[in-house]
Amino acid sequence: MPEIVLFENKDAVSLDAAYRFTALAAQAEAAGRSFTVALAGGSTPKLLYSLLASAPCREAIHWDNIVFFFGDERCVPPDATDSNYRMAEDALFAHVPLPAENIHRMRGDLADHEQAAREYEQEIQTFFALTPGELPRFDLILLGMGADGHCASLFPGKKSLHELERMVVAAEPGLTPFVSRLTLTFPVLNNAAHVLFLIAGTDKALTLARVMQQDLTPEQLPIRSVSPAHGSMTYLIDHDAAQLLKHG
Ligand code: 6PG
Repeated sequence: MPEIVLFENKDAVSLDAAYRFTALAAQAEAAGRSFTVALAGGSTPKLLYSLLASAPCREAIHWDNIVFFFGDERCVPPDATDSNYRMAEDALFAHVPLPAENIHRMRGDLADHEQAAREYEQEIQTFFALTPGELPRFDLILLGMGADGHCASLFPGKKSLHELERMVVAAEPGLTPFVSRLTLTFPVLNNAAHVLFLIAGTDKALTLARVMQQDLTPEQLPIRSVSPAHGSMTYLIDHDAAQLLKHG
């Protein structure tokens, strides 16, 4: 089971996540490595991204040592309101001195989604200098949880849940926005050094309770398939999302 940390509200969740990000980034730099991050999309992480782009995090982070990837993307143009890239650009990238080459955008705008998935795999393989079959080890993968128990764009009942060979696939949507997606697969998520979930809001409470009680299968609650084999996993949860959890 993950480390579970409860907070009063989403602001407190986001602030803790910002400090964790900053600390992990400093550790990577101290070890002489780039800090590789796969960003979550949706709405919850927006505040975290804004906090990273604000004092004190903005000044504490050495941005030229941070390399951003995405956990998933909607197949829309990068300036579309539904674009996860656009959300990160508006909340974070536009406000920090980050070299452009340190942002690896999923090409959700390509008409051929399968080609976009393979291109992103190639980008990951090149950056991490992977041998054939080797998986990337992201320092940090940020994830949210949908009210249906999905994470990234790995939705209940979809075939992408069972993809164990590819690192990136084109995926069917399972929740709004009902557009095709690109997503990292579970083998990549589960090879991360740190997985950090940000889960907030009353609309997540029932699903989170089911995740903790494990009364539904991973096929029904894909978040249950995230368990880094050689890494840590933490759920940062606010009071509203935790309200149905059994305490003690
Ligand atoms: C996406 C996200 C997705 C998100 C969850 C939670 O592209 O939609 O990557 O996996 O994390 O849907 O979204 P909220 O944070 O908006 O509730």
